[in-house]
Amino acid sequence: MMGKATQDLRSEHDAILHVLDILDRASAIREKDQAGFLKFGGELTGFLKIFADKCHHGKEENFLFEEMVQRGVPKEGGPIGVMLQEHKLGREYIALMATAVELKDLAKFSEAAGMYRDLLRPHIEKENTVLFVMADRLIDEAAQDEMFEKFEQHEESVIGHGVHEELHAMIHKWEEEYGNP
Ligand SMILES: [Fe+2]
Ligand SMILES: [Fe+2]
Repeated sequence: MMGKATQDLRSEHDAILHVLDILDRASAIREKDQAGFLKFGGELTGFLKIFADKCHHGKEENFLFEEMVQRGVPKEGGPIGVMLQEHKLGREYIALMATAVELKDLAKFSEAAGMYRDLLRPHIEKENTVLFVMADRLIDEAAQDEMFEKFEQHEESVIGHGVHEELHAMIHKWEEEYGNP
């Protein structure tokens, strides 16, 4: 059965995948509306930095992976090691996206965003189908509930209520501009 903490991470995966689909749609405007695409690029980079990296990867690294390590899953070499490596790579791609936005280099932005997208889709797939299944087997319901509480505190400290609302509003705005995939 699915625990409360892994369920929360799965919903965040859905939100991230949804935003990556929006990226694909928004990329279609790059040639005809360069200023619009640059603005989207800046917003997307901010979203990924705060939501995907600080909030979501923060929950995984600081809590879920730790709980799994405490239950005997190796931190290095195994699936957790691979996930950590991919989070690190994701951070590097986000940094490249931020630099490209600063330089107003749309081609570089698209390249970095494409690398990020192609990293994250299979990363999420691996977590959903392998890592979280393993976590649900190892971590009982009470411990998952406790972890979920820590997730909420983490979310409050890195995002906060106000910004959470803003991120939702931003996704909604993108859907209106680029279509709801
Ligand atoms: Fe992850
Ligand atoms: Fe994840």
